[in-house]
Amino acid sequence: MADIQTIYQETIKFAAEKHGAQKVKGSKIPYVVHLSNVAMEIFMAARKTHGFDLGYALQLALLHDTIEDTQTTRQEIEMVFGKDIAEGVWALTGDPKLLKEYRLSDSLAKIRKCPREAGAVKLADRITNLQAPPKSWSKSHIKDYLYDAQQILKVLHGANEYLEKRLQQKIDEYSKYSG
Ligand code: NI
Repeated sequence: MADIQTIYQETIKFAAEKHGAQKVKGSKIPYVVHLSNVAMEIFMAARKTHGFDLGYALQLALLHDTIEDTQTTRQEIEMVFGKDIAEGVWALTGDPKLLKEYRLSDSLAKIRKCPREAGAVKLADRITNLQAPPKSWSKSHIKDYLYDAQQILKVLHGANEYLEKRLQQKIDEYSKYSG
């Protein structure tokens, strides 16, 4: 197994190429900043969690939006990174064949069948996304987003204690935008 630094570099290069010119929604920030923020949460979680599979979690963190937001296929991820990583990324992907309102619960059910670190990546993703909402968002949109975050926390209970605590704090802070 390659060292963590090599895994990180090779995976972030792949992801950065795939996301190309894509920006973080509502900003001019390159998408790879979102990916590195999720990876940063994972590094912190690894320090706080016994028996944490950092290599697996990091690859999922960096690849988690490739199938959902780029032309990358599950088969391609499997060829480059192997079956376990492809399955994890697939679990973290909202299935476009489903109606939007069913995608999150379907994804969370798939995540629960993967190693616990896949759940940690989902928690980390939502932690980094719970920042002040864009001015264009309505109160009901903000409420839906908050509700989704609460669902993630509930369904993934036990995935990673440290990140669950962080997500709970972020939810509490974010609640002020929905009131
Ligand atoms: Ni994401």
